[in-house]
Amino acid sequence: MDYSENYFFECGSGTIVNCLPEIGRQTVVAEILAGLRALPKRISSKFFYDRPGSELFQKITRLDEYYPSRTEKAIFEQLPLEAVTDCRDLDIIELGSGDHSKISLLLKKVPPGRLSGIRYFPVDISRPALESSIRELGRAFPELEVQGIVADYFHQMHLVPGDRRKLFCFLGSTIGNLERDEANAFVRDIGGTMEPGDAFLTGFDRVKDTAVLERAYNDAGGLTARFNRNVLNVVNGLIESDFNPLDFEHRAFYNRARRRIEMHLEATRDIRVRTPFAREEILVGKGERIHTENSHKFDDADIQTIAEKAGLAVRNIFSDQKELFSLALYGKDR
Ligand code: SAH
Ligand code: AVI
Repeated sequence: MDYSENYFFECGSGTIVNCLPEIGRQTVVAEILAGLRALPKRISSKFFYDRPGSELFQKITRLDEYYPSRTEKAIFEQLPLEAVTDCRDLDIIELGSGDHSKISLLLKKVPPGRLSGIRYFPVDISRPALESSIRELGRAFPELEVQGIVADYFHQMHLVPGDRRKLFCFLGSTIGNLERDEANAFVRDIGGTMEPGDAFLTGFDRVKDTAVLERAYNDAGGLTARFNRNVLNVVNGLIESDFNPLDFEHRAFYNRARRRIEMHLEATRDIRVRTPFAREEILVGKGERIHTENSHKFDDADIQTIAEKAGLAVRNIFSDQKELFSLALYGKDR
Protein backbone atom coordinates (compact mmCIF):
# COMPACT_ATOMS: atom_id res chain seq x y z
CA MET A 1 0.00 0.00 0.00
CA ASP A 2 1.38 3.36 -1.11
CA TYR A 3 1.68 5.49 2.03
CA SER A 4 5.07 6.93 0.95
CA GLU A 5 5.04 7.39 -2.82
CA ASN A 6 3.40 10.51 -4.26
CA TYR A 7 2.04 10.03 -7.74
CA PHE A 8 -0.42 11.32 -10.28
CA PHE A 9 -0.64 9.58 -13.62
CA GLU A 10 -2.82 9.03 -16.63
CA CYS A 11 -4.45 5.63 -16.61
CA GLY A 12 -6.20 4.66 -19.85
CA SER A 13 -8.40 7.67 -20.56
CA GLY A 14 -8.66 8.59 -16.85
CA THR A 15 -6.27 9.70 -14.10
CA ILE A 16 -5.14 8.41 -10.70
CA VAL A 17 -3.85 10.47 -7.80
CA ASN A 18 -2.43 9.00 -4.60
CA CYS A 19 -3.50 10.83 -1.42
CA LEU A 20 -2.25 8.22 1.09
CA PRO A 21 1.10 9.99 1.70
CA GLU A 22 -0.92 12.73 3.43
CA ILE A 23 -1.59 10.11 6.14
CA GLY A 24 1.99 8.86 6.03
CA ARG A 25 3.69 5.55 6.70
CA GLN A 26 4.53 6.36 10.37
CA THR A 27 0.86 6.84 11.23
CA VAL A 28 -0.04 3.53 9.63
CA VAL A 29 2.83 1.70 11.36
CA ALA A 30 1.67 3.16 14.71
CA GLU A 31 -1.94 2.11 13.99
CA ILE A 32 -0.92 -1.48 13.17
CA LEU A 33 1.38 -1.79 16.21
CA ALA A 34 -1.35 -0.42 18.51
CA GLY A 35 -3.72 -3.08 17.17
CA LEU A 36 -1.19 -5.87 17.69
CA ARG A 37 -0.50 -4.71 21.26
CA ALA A 38 -4.21 -4.48 22.12
CA LEU A 39 -6.17 -7.22 23.83
CA PRO A 40 -7.72 -8.83 21.89
CA LYS A 41 -5.31 -8.15 19.03
CA ARG A 42 -6.80 -6.57 15.92
CA ILE A 43 -5.88 -5.53 12.38
CA SER A 44 -8.15 -3.17 10.41
CA SER A 45 -9.95 -4.76 7.48
CA LYS A 46 -8.76 -1.89 5.25
CA PHE A 47 -5.41 -3.75 5.13
CA PHE A 48 -6.94 -6.68 3.22
CA TYR A 49 -6.70 -4.89 -0.09
CA ASP A 50 -3.26 -5.07 -1.70
CA ARG A 51 -3.20 -6.53 -5.24
CA PRO A 52 -3.65 -10.20 -4.19
CA GLY A 53 -6.26 -9.16 -1.59
CA SER A 54 -8.31 -7.19 -4.12
CA GLU A 55 -8.09 -10.10 -6.58
CA LEU A 56 -9.14 -12.60 -3.89
CA PHE A 57 -12.09 -10.38 -2.96
CA GLN A 58 -13.19 -10.29 -6.60
CA LYS A 59 -13.09 -14.09 -6.70
CA ILE A 60 -15.10 -14.25 -3.46
CA THR A 61 -17.82 -12.13 -5.08
CA ARG A 62 -18.30 -14.88 -7.66
CA LEU A 63 -18.62 -17.73 -5.13
CA ASP A 64 -21.90 -19.57 -4.82
CA GLU A 65 -21.71 -19.17 -1.01
CA TYR A 66 -21.16 -15.37 -1.15
CA TYR A 67 -24.68 -14.16 -2.02
CA PRO A 68 -24.25 -10.36 -1.30
CA SER A 69 -22.56 -9.32 -4.55
CA ARG A 70 -24.85 -11.11 -6.99
CA THR A 71 -27.90 -10.05 -4.98
CA GLU A 72 -26.90 -6.39 -4.97
CA LYS A 73 -26.17 -6.60 -8.70
CA ALA A 74 -29.61 -8.11 -9.32
CA ILE A 75 -31.17 -5.16 -7.48
CA PHE A 76 -29.16 -2.77 -9.70
CA GLU A 77 -30.34 -4.58 -12.84
CA GLN A 78 -33.95 -3.92 -11.86
CA LEU A 79 -33.40 -0.32 -10.77
CA PRO A 80 -34.52 2.42 -13.18
CA LEU A 81 -31.87 5.17 -13.45
CA GLU A 82 -34.52 7.83 -12.74
CA ALA A 83 -35.24 6.17 -9.38
CA VAL A 84 -31.69 7.03 -8.33
CA THR A 85 -30.65 10.23 -10.03
CA ASP A 86 -30.96 12.72 -12.84
CA CYS A 87 -27.74 12.20 -14.78
CA ARG A 88 -27.30 15.76 -16.10
CA ASP A 89 -24.16 17.52 -14.76
CA LEU A 90 -23.52 14.90 -12.15
CA ASP A 91 -20.48 13.94 -10.06
CA ILE A 92 -20.56 10.31 -8.92
CA ILE A 93 -18.27 9.66 -5.96
CA GLU A 94 -17.93 5.97 -5.20
CA LEU A 95 -16.27 5.05 -1.90
CA GLY A 96 -14.47 1.70 -1.93
CA SER A 97 -15.21 1.29 -5.62
CA GLY A 98 -13.35 -2.05 -5.99
CA ASP A 99 -13.99 -3.49 -9.44
CA HIS A 100 -16.72 -0.87 -10.29
CA SER A 101 -19.00 -3.71 -11.40
CA LYS A 102 -22.08 -2.29 -9.70
CA ILE A 103 -21.82 1.32 -10.80
CA SER A 104 -21.33 -0.01 -14.35
CA LEU A 105 -24.81 -1.47 -14.18
CA LEU A 106 -26.13 2.03 -13.52
CA LEU A 107 -23.89 3.70 -16.12
CA LYS A 108 -25.21 1.28 -18.76
CA LYS A 109 -28.65 2.84 -18.24
CA VAL A 110 -27.47 6.37 -19.06
CA PRO A 111 -28.97 7.41 -22.44
CA PRO A 112 -26.53 7.82 -25.36
CA GLY A 113 -24.77 11.18 -25.32
CA ARG A 114 -25.46 11.83 -21.64
CA LEU A 115 -22.35 10.10 -20.27
CA SER A 116 -20.25 13.14 -21.16
CA GLY A 117 -22.22 15.08 -18.52
CA ILE A 118 -21.03 12.76 -15.76
CA ARG A 119 -17.75 12.75 -13.86
CA TYR A 120 -16.92 9.57 -11.92
CA PHE A 121 -14.57 9.71 -8.91
CA PRO A 122 -13.79 6.21 -7.65
CA VAL A 123 -12.08 6.37 -4.24
CA ASP A 124 -10.23 3.26 -3.06
CA ILE A 125 -7.29 2.42 -0.81
CA SER A 126 -6.19 -0.18 -3.38
CA ARG A 127 -4.27 1.28 -6.32
CA PRO A 128 -4.27 -2.03 -8.26
CA ALA A 129 -8.06 -2.27 -7.97
CA LEU A 130 -8.44 1.34 -9.17
CA GLU A 131 -6.00 0.90 -12.03
CA SER A 132 -7.65 -2.12 -13.60
CA SER A 133 -11.08 -0.68 -12.95
CA ILE A 134 -10.29 2.65 -14.64
CA ARG A 135 -8.80 0.94 -17.70
CA GLU A 136 -11.91 -1.21 -18.08
CA LEU A 137 -14.23 1.77 -17.59
CA GLY A 138 -12.36 3.67 -20.31
CA ARG A 139 -13.05 0.84 -22.75
CA ALA A 140 -16.70 0.37 -21.73
CA PHE A 141 -17.64 4.06 -21.40
CA PRO A 142 -15.20 6.15 -23.48
CA GLU A 143 -17.20 9.37 -22.99
CA LEU A 144 -17.12 9.16 -19.21
CA GLU A 145 -14.62 11.37 -17.35
CA VAL A 146 -12.93 9.27 -14.65
CA GLN A 147 -10.62 10.57 -11.91
CA GLY A 148 -9.46 7.84 -9.51
CA ILE A 149 -8.37 8.71 -5.99
CA VAL A 150 -6.20 6.40 -3.89
CA ALA A 151 -7.23 7.40 -0.37
CA ASP A 152 -8.54 6.17 2.97
CA TYR A 153 -12.13 7.38 2.84
CA PHE A 154 -12.44 7.10 6.58
CA HIS A 155 -9.81 9.80 7.17
CA GLN A 156 -9.70 11.69 3.89
CA MET A 157 -13.21 12.67 2.90
CA HIS A 158 -12.01 16.30 2.81
CA LEU A 159 -10.10 15.41 -0.38
CA VAL A 160 -13.11 14.19 -2.28
CA PRO A 161 -13.88 16.61 -5.10
CA GLY A 162 -17.16 17.33 -6.82
CA ASP A 163 -18.56 20.80 -7.34
CA ARG A 164 -21.72 19.75 -9.13
CA ARG A 165 -24.75 17.76 -8.08
CA LYS A 166 -23.40 14.70 -6.29
CA LEU A 167 -24.31 11.05 -6.07
CA PHE A 168 -22.30 9.28 -3.36
CA CYS A 169 -22.17 5.48 -3.57
CA PHE A 170 -20.97 3.14 -0.83
CA LEU A 171 -21.80 -0.32 -2.12
CA GLY A 172 -21.23 -3.97 -1.28
CA SER A 173 -22.27 -3.43 2.37
CA THR A 174 -18.77 -2.09 3.00
CA ILE A 175 -20.55 0.13 5.56
CA GLY A 176 -20.87 -3.09 7.56
CA ASN A 177 -17.10 -3.25 7.96
CA LEU A 178 -17.22 -0.14 10.14
CA GLU A 179 -18.23 -0.23 13.80
CA ARG A 180 -21.86 0.90 14.14
CA ASP A 181 -20.90 4.24 15.72
CA GLU A 182 -18.21 4.75 13.06
CA ALA A 183 -20.81 4.09 10.36
CA ASN A 184 -23.12 6.71 11.90
CA ALA A 185 -20.31 9.26 12.07
CA PHE A 186 -19.19 8.46 8.53
CA VAL A 187 -22.64 8.90 7.00
CA ARG A 188 -23.07 12.09 9.04
CA ASP A 189 -19.80 13.45 7.57
CA ILE A 190 -20.95 12.65 4.05
CA GLY A 191 -24.38 14.10 4.82
CA GLY A 192 -22.61 17.28 5.96
CA THR A 193 -21.16 17.77 2.47
CA MET A 194 -24.47 17.07 0.69
CA GLU A 195 -26.87 19.70 -0.66
CA PRO A 196 -30.59 19.23 -1.37
CA GLY A 197 -30.68 17.44 -4.74
CA ASP A 198 -27.62 15.30 -3.93
CA ALA A 199 -28.08 11.60 -3.18
CA PHE A 200 -26.30 8.84 -1.32
CA LEU A 201 -26.78 5.21 -2.37
CA THR A 202 -25.62 2.64 0.19
CA GLY A 203 -25.63 -1.17 0.09
CA PHE A 204 -26.72 -3.01 3.25
CA ASP A 205 -26.43 -6.75 3.84
CA ARG A 206 -29.49 -7.70 5.88
CA VAL A 207 -29.83 -9.75 9.08
CA LYS A 208 -30.77 -13.31 8.11
CA ASP A 209 -30.45 -16.96 8.95
CA THR A 210 -27.12 -17.67 10.71
CA ALA A 211 -26.33 -20.68 8.51
CA VAL A 212 -26.58 -18.58 5.33
CA LEU A 213 -24.35 -15.89 6.83
CA GLU A 214 -21.72 -18.27 8.15
CA ARG A 215 -21.59 -20.18 4.86
CA ALA A 216 -20.85 -16.92 3.01
CA TYR A 217 -17.70 -16.39 5.11
CA ASN A 218 -16.58 -20.04 5.23
CA ASP A 219 -16.58 -21.10 1.57
CA ALA A 220 -15.73 -24.71 0.87
CA GLY A 221 -12.87 -23.77 -1.50
CA GLY A 222 -11.08 -21.76 1.21
CA LEU A 223 -10.90 -18.45 -0.72
CA THR A 224 -12.12 -16.43 2.28
CA ALA A 225 -9.49 -18.13 4.43
CA ARG A 226 -6.80 -17.07 1.93
CA PHE A 227 -8.22 -13.54 1.84
CA ASN A 228 -8.14 -13.42 5.66
CA ARG A 229 -4.57 -14.76 5.96
CA ASN A 230 -3.33 -12.39 3.24
CA VAL A 231 -3.80 -9.47 5.62
CA LEU A 232 -0.62 -10.68 7.35
CA ASN A 233 1.31 -10.30 4.08
CA VAL A 234 0.09 -6.70 3.85
CA VAL A 235 1.07 -6.08 7.49
CA ASN A 236 4.50 -7.63 6.80
CA GLY A 237 4.95 -5.15 3.93
CA LEU A 238 3.96 -2.15 6.04
CA ILE A 239 5.78 -2.87 9.32
CA GLU A 240 8.50 -5.15 7.88
CA SER A 241 7.43 -7.96 10.20
CA ASP A 242 7.82 -11.72 9.74
CA PHE A 243 4.34 -13.15 10.24
CA ASN A 244 3.86 -16.49 8.48
CA PRO A 245 0.19 -16.51 7.39
CA LEU A 246 0.26 -20.32 7.40
CA ASP A 247 0.67 -20.26 11.20
CA PHE A 248 -2.95 -19.10 11.42
CA GLU A 249 -6.38 -20.69 10.93
CA HIS A 250 -9.30 -18.74 9.46
CA ARG A 251 -12.25 -18.32 11.85
CA ALA A 252 -15.54 -16.67 10.81
CA PHE A 253 -18.77 -16.81 12.81
CA TYR A 254 -21.94 -14.84 13.44
CA ASN A 255 -22.04 -12.87 16.67
CA ARG A 256 -25.80 -12.79 17.22
CA ALA A 257 -25.73 -10.20 20.02
CA ARG A 258 -23.86 -7.72 17.82
CA ARG A 259 -25.49 -8.80 14.57
CA ARG A 260 -22.23 -9.20 12.75
CA ILE A 261 -19.95 -11.75 11.15
CA GLU A 262 -16.55 -11.62 12.81
CA MET A 263 -13.40 -12.83 11.10
CA HIS A 264 -10.33 -13.76 13.11
CA LEU A 265 -6.97 -15.43 12.55
CA GLU A 266 -6.20 -18.05 15.20
CA ALA A 267 -2.56 -18.98 15.93
CA THR A 268 -1.86 -22.70 15.62
CA ARG A 269 1.32 -22.42 17.76
CA ASP A 270 3.15 -19.89 19.97
CA ILE A 271 4.57 -17.21 17.69
CA ARG A 272 7.15 -14.41 18.15
CA VAL A 273 6.98 -11.69 15.51
CA ARG A 274 9.78 -9.19 14.92
CA THR A 275 9.55 -5.73 13.38
CA PRO A 276 12.21 -2.98 13.21
CA PHE A 277 9.52 -0.52 14.33
CA ALA A 278 9.21 -2.04 17.84
CA ARG A 279 11.89 -2.92 20.37
CA GLU A 280 9.95 -5.80 21.85
CA GLU A 281 8.72 -8.85 19.92
CA ILE A 282 4.98 -9.30 19.34
CA LEU A 283 3.89 -12.52 21.07
CA VAL A 284 0.90 -14.47 19.83
CA GLY A 285 0.02 -17.48 21.99
CA LYS A 286 -1.26 -20.76 20.54
CA GLY A 287 -5.05 -20.42 20.20
CA GLU A 288 -4.94 -16.62 20.46
CA ARG A 289 -6.97 -14.75 17.85
CA ILE A 290 -6.31 -11.60 15.87
CA HIS A 291 -9.61 -9.90 14.99
CA THR A 292 -9.43 -8.90 11.32
CA GLU A 293 -12.95 -7.94 10.23
CA ASN A 294 -16.49 -7.21 11.31
CA SER A 295 -19.28 -7.39 8.81
CA HIS A 296 -22.37 -5.93 10.43
CA LYS A 297 -25.84 -6.88 9.21
CA PHE A 298 -28.77 -4.47 9.04
CA ASP A 299 -32.56 -4.16 9.01
CA ASP A 300 -34.90 -1.35 7.92
CA ALA A 301 -34.78 0.23 11.39
CA ASP A 302 -30.96 0.46 11.17
CA ILE A 303 -31.18 2.02 7.72
CA GLN A 304 -33.63 4.60 9.07
CA THR A 305 -31.56 5.32 12.21
CA ILE A 306 -28.36 5.88 10.22
CA ALA A 307 -30.21 8.43 8.08
CA GLU A 308 -31.75 10.22 11.05
CA LYS A 309 -28.42 10.51 12.85
CA ALA A 310 -26.91 12.05 9.72
CA GLY A 311 -29.74 14.52 9.15
CA LEU A 312 -30.67 12.68 5.94
CA ALA A 313 -33.99 11.32 4.70
CA VAL A 314 -34.58 7.79 3.40
CA ARG A 315 -35.93 8.34 -0.13
CA ASN A 316 -36.29 4.65 -0.90
CA ILE A 317 -35.13 1.16 0.05
CA PHE A 318 -34.69 -1.29 -2.84
CA SER A 319 -34.45 -4.96 -1.86
CA ASP A 320 -34.44 -8.35 -3.59
CA GLN A 321 -37.49 -10.58 -3.20
CA LYS A 322 -35.92 -12.71 -0.47
CA GLU A 323 -34.81 -9.56 1.39
CA LEU A 324 -31.21 -10.71 1.58
CA PHE A 325 -29.78 -7.31 0.65
CA SER A 326 -30.96 -3.71 0.36
CA LEU A 327 -29.87 -0.59 -1.42
CA ALA A 328 -30.89 2.53 0.47
CA LEU A 329 -31.20 5.90 -1.24
CA TYR A 330 -30.64 8.81 1.14
CA GLY A 331 -31.29 12.45 0.32
CA LYS A 332 -31.19 15.79 2.04
CA ASP A 333 -34.20 18.04 2.55
CA ARG A 334 -32.53 21.26 3.58
N1 SAH B 1 -17.76 -1.72 -3.62
C1 SAH B 1 -17.14 -2.91 -4.18
C2 SAH B 1 -15.90 -3.37 -3.38
C3 SAH B 1 -16.19 -3.82 -1.98
S1 SAH B 1 -14.72 -4.44 -1.20
C4 SAH B 1 -18.15 -4.02 -4.28
O1 SAH B 1 -19.26 -3.84 -3.80
O2 SAH B 1 -17.83 -5.08 -4.84
C5 SAH B 1 -14.27 -3.04 -0.25
C6 SAH B 1 -13.48 -2.03 -1.08
O3 SAH B 1 -13.25 -0.91 -0.26
C7 SAH B 1 -12.14 -2.57 -1.53
O4 SAH B 1 -11.94 -2.26 -2.89
C8 SAH B 1 -11.14 -1.86 -0.63
O5 SAH B 1 -9.89 -1.63 -1.26
C9 SAH B 1 -11.87 -0.58 -0.29
N2 SAH B 1 -11.56 -0.05 1.04
C10 SAH B 1 -11.61 -0.70 2.23
N3 SAH B 1 -11.32 0.15 3.25
C11 SAH B 1 -11.06 1.35 2.67
C12 SAH B 1 -10.71 2.64 3.19
N4 SAH B 1 -10.56 2.84 4.50
N5 SAH B 1 -10.56 3.66 2.30
C13 SAH B 1 -10.71 3.45 0.95
N6 SAH B 1 -11.05 2.27 0.42
C14 SAH B 1 -11.22 1.23 1.26
C1 AVI C 1 -16.14 -5.67 1.48
N1 AVI C 1 -16.93 -6.29 2.51
C2 AVI C 1 -18.29 -5.75 2.56
C3 AVI C 1 -16.91 -7.77 2.50
C4 AVI C 1 -17.84 -8.31 3.61
O1 AVI C 1 -18.65 -9.18 3.28
O2 AVI C 1 -17.77 -7.84 4.74
C5 AVI C 1 -15.50 -8.29 2.69
C6 AVI C 1 -15.45 -9.77 2.88
N2 AVI C 1 -14.95 -10.38 3.91
C7 AVI C 1 -15.04 -11.67 3.76
N3 AVI C 1 -15.66 -11.92 2.61
C8 AVI C 1 -15.90 -10.74 2.03
